[in-house]
Amino acid sequence: MSTKDEVLELLKYSGSKYISGQEMASGLYVTRAAVWKAIKALQAEGHIIEAVTNKGYRLVTKGELLSESRIVTNVSEDMSFLCSPDFVKVYDEVESTNDLARQISLSGDENEHVIVASSQTKGRGRRGRDFFSPEGTGLYMSFLIYPKEDITEAIKYTCMMAESLCRAIEKVIEVEASIKWVNDIYYKDKKVAGILTEAITSVEDGSLSSVIIGVGINVFNPYEGFPENIKNKAGALLEQHRDDVMNRLCGAIITEFYRSYMKPLKYPFLEGYKKRSILIGNYIKIISNSTKNIKSGREYALVTGIDDQCHLLIRYDDGVEDSLFSGEVSVVKY
Ligand code: BTN
Repeated sequence: MSTKDEVLELLKYSGSKYISGQEMASGLYVTRAAVWKAIKALQAEGHIIEAVTNKGYRLVTKGELLSESRIVTNVSEDMSFLCSPDFVKVYDEVESTNDLARQISLSGDENEHVIVASSQTKGRGRRGRDFFSPEGTGLYMSFLIYPKEDITEAIKYTCMMAESLCRAIEKVIEVEASIKWVNDIYYKDKKVAGILTEAITSVEDGSLSSVIIGVGINVFNPYEGFPENIKNKAGALLEQHRDDVMNRLCGAIITEFYRSYMKPLKYPFLEGYKKRSILIGNYIKIISNSTKNIKSGREYALVTGIDDQCHLLIRYDDGVEDSLFSGEVSVVKY
């Protein structure tokens, strides 16, 4: 048996208890460096091994990753009133948490819910793209809410969620994430999360019947790597497993989102959104946009700000000012 296999056996034998590198090294008559190398190799193969200073290592089983009760425990006390039975629904595998939230809304259920899944078989991104949603390494969740507002307000929820996600990531993962307007979260120059907001509207008056805010986060790198078409752009928040991180992150996202959503003022999250924006002050190429006056020569612009409606404020090279309320842009060097 190789040292790697022996280390794996020891970790399995220890179950949920931590075992130190020194204990494993002594038990297997190898150096601590050899144990460390074996741990790295096992992690690269996709085993989730949690490393905690002064405690040691522990093998995390997939079933442990997400649980309703652990998520609810991690919702802060000021928001715990939300957590009635059934508020958080956890699934192993679904086609798409956004689709499930939509079905729940259309079934007449008037309660707000957060649908969480360990994997999705038909995860969707913006602009009809797929969202890669492998098991065990990502967090896929959809918030189903019933705001009494007009459809034009829906963009706000994407931005509100982006800012809430950054705050949750800062609290739990302890790193600073940035926002690429309108719905992408970046860390170390890689996209680590995306948001897809969808709305069900009333045919009578065009008001919002429900809003579904879907969030997909690459917490760890996928076991088999990212697919070819996104591998240069996509990244993950963590390289190594951390104690109960999926449930803690999920609880923190619920807390931070509802802290914003429950505020009576209209756009209080905007300051945090702008502070974390990677576009303001940069030149962008407009890949697709929402304005009517795009014409050739106006593919590039300077981002001058984000207004109170979450629209991107830009100035084209010919000096004309404009604002985008949706679209896709990329940062370019000028
Ligand atoms: C994007 O980056 O274009 C948005 C990605 C949104 C993905 C999330 S994962 C949970 C929810 N269910 C889906 O099918 N999509 C969203």
